[in-house]
Amino acid sequence: MTRVTPLLLAVVSAATVATVQTTPTPLIIGHRGASGHRPEHTLEGYRLAAEMGADFIEPDLVSTKDGVLIARHENEIGGTTDVADKFASRKTTKTVDGQAITGWFSEDFTLAELRTLRAKERLAFRSHDYDGKFSVPTFDEVIQLAQQLGRGLGRPIGVYPETKHPTYFRGIGLPLEDTLLRSLDRFGWNRRDAPVFIQSFEAGNLRALRSQTKVRLIRLVSVPADVTDAALKDIAGYADGIGPEKRLVIPVDADGTVHPPTDLVPRAHALGLLVHIWTIRIDREFLPAGYHGRAETEFEQFRDAGVDGLFTDFPDVAARVYGNRLPSRYTNATAR
Ligand code: G3P
Ligand code: CA
Repeated sequence: MTRVTPLLLAVVSAATVATVQTTPTPLIIGHRGASGHRPEHTLEGYRLAAEMGADFIEPDLVSTKDGVLIARHENEIGGTTDVADKFASRKTTKTVDGQAITGWFSEDFTLAELRTLRAKERLAFRSHDYDGKFSVPTFDEVIQLAQQLGRGLGRPIGVYPETKHPTYFRGIGLPLEDTLLRSLDRFGWNRRDAPVFIQSFEAGNLRALRSQTKVRLIRLVSVPADVTDAALKDIAGYADGIGPEKRLVIPVDADGTVHPPTDLVPRAHALGLLVHIWTIRIDREFLPAGYHGRAETEFEQFRDAGVDGLFTDFPDVAARVYGNRLPSRYTNATAR
């Protein structure tokens, strides 16, 4: 594990003694880009996230009909694009991971067709000023952008791809994993010290990936049964960390009461697992009442709970709260 131990450096001069706090702050992961500010999974949103202070940008990945990985949160693309206006007749119903879903599906469209679409904001209460302006990016384009941004900003900007519905895609003959690794290969980032984490809610494809790549792997977990001591030990056998739903670390009651941290972070760290929680959003529709309208408190609490990284729709707020940030703890991660 590449975790830096908190330390206090004493700076001594002839006349004064000053102390400099150098406690590392969590990695800031731009959740689907800067999706509190721009439509999710667009190059413009990813760029903004990095410029606001994100260390990583997160593309969720699904496949096109012709086997190209694109950045969308789910393979049903009606909620985040104008596909209904352009391909009305292609609406259909499918069962994905046991759930019947009606809409338009990435695997039914070629990349050329998807290139004609424009992204739109998913959530009604967020700004729709950018609807219709941005296209749907490929994973290759996201990596390329991250590398350009890293060079421009003078610090590594990593990618944090999530394989979405990997068993489903394998079942329809469009497996995600080999294509993902080929993309990383193409850009020189299929290596241990690349600024890359691959994440999945499914253990199966992460176990398989462990023997195919040295890139760091993160198992997403969402319920207490996923993080028992035995479950964590199992995860430590194939992954480098866990990505817990944030309430597994700081519980909040239905009435918005915020509780002290659980023991999940120290238990995971004891096994050498990183902890990257999801997802912090400052909108009043998401912020629990217990924070009394002060969203910054949530960022402070997760830092103080010792998490190694956090996904947020608002990397600007994270960067502001964490202030003068130390160099990335992944000092061996280099932009190409
Ligand atoms: O990948 C971490 C977090 O993004 C998981 O939730 O649904 O936003 O992909 P989701
Ligand atoms: Ca995700």
